Amino acid sequence: MKTRIGILTGGGDCPGLNAVIRAVVLAAAQRGWSTVGILGGFEGLLTPPHIRELNPDETDGLLYLGGTILGTSNRGRFAAKVGHGEVRQIDPAIIAEAKANFDRLGLRALIVVGGDGSLTIAMQCMEGGIPVVGVPKTIDNDIAGTVVTFGFDTAVSFATDALDRLRSTAQSHQRVMVCEMMGRYAGWIALHAGVSGGADVILLPEIPFRVDAICAKIRQREAAGKHDSLVVVAEGAREQDGDFVTAGSTAAAGQGPSGGAFREARLGGVASMVAERIQQETGKETRVCVLGHLQRGGVPTTFDRLLCTRFGVGAVRLIAEEKYGQMVANRPPDTLGIPIPEAVGKLRTVPVDCDVIQTARALGISLGDR
Ligand code: F6P
Repeated sequence: MKTRIGILTGGGDCPGLNAVIRAVVLAAAQRGWSTVGILGGFEGLLTPPHIRELNPDETDGLLYLGGTILGTSNRGRFAAKVGHGEVRQIDPAIIAEAKANFDRLGLRALIVVGGDGSLTIAMQCMEGGIPVVGVPKTIDNDIAGTVVTFGFDTAVSFATDALDRLRSTAQSHQRVMVCEMMGRYAGWIALHAGVSGGADVILLPEIPFRVDAICAKIRQREAAGKHDSLVVVAEGAREQDGDFVTAGSTAAAGQGPSGGAFREARLGGVASMVAERIQQETGKETRVCVLGHLQRGGVPTTFDRLLCTRFGVGAVRLIAEEKYGQMVANRPPDTLGIPIPEAVGKLRTVPVDCDVIQTARALGISLGDR
């Protein structure tokens, strides 16, 4: 009987998901296997299963198409992360139902393309008897065990372009422009885009800030005749002794399976808080720009297309070698398999003494702490 494998995309969407799907379908077809797409994330494995046969002849254009043709979800009955990243055990009856449908579909293995939350769910499915292989996805770049996740490069590239545009307005109006970027509890996007976009201040979750240190930098620029400033704020940045700023309700509000509202806290709003304080303390006209989901959409960069393609091919190779419970990882120059538990639940944040941080400090960029 022909080998059939399944693939699903879980968590937030991310540039390059379709490129991974394409690579999996083509690499599987090269081995004489067929691929089935599970629709809407893990929920698509529940009764009745929502699936789509993925034909290698229909993969044209997927390499550069944003979003995911399979759909995705980061809330509901399969949410394994709630609040500020706490792990939740999924109902064993839900896992058993998914396993029964996996068997009914005649699948040999399931490729899970997702971030920390989806890979945590994947491990719980594995414990429930579903052979899984993971592909690390997230613009946040916060998964351990891999040098980089796909989507990150595209998000940084977009955020850097946004900073170039914001600098024009800052200069024209002699304003302070404060730009909020995604990344959850890791500051990778803000740091890399901030340095690449020539920011004057970069605030990261890893380095709690002081408003007086930010204002000192802006005053120093004023004194030097530079009347505009660009402040980059990661959505997970927080004031020394302060808490994370969240957007609206955390929606983890204890709803059960049918309500399906389990989900992680939504960060957002710290840039407005920082901008208001800067305006109060310096008297400078200040504006806020929140990049939000613009960082998650659109065409993947060349770097991400290549990474996605290597990851997709690597995932099929792991199935051929029956290395279940493993995830593909980027360890230049190789793509290799590592056990998923080595990667999940270990948020990979920015080391505060890493080279990019040192580079930023050497340029005189303020990180808001001194
Ligand atoms: O994990 C990716 C990410 O975009 C984070 O950077 C952000 O905090 C979160 O997802 C937003 O999630 P949602 O799309 O559910 O608002």
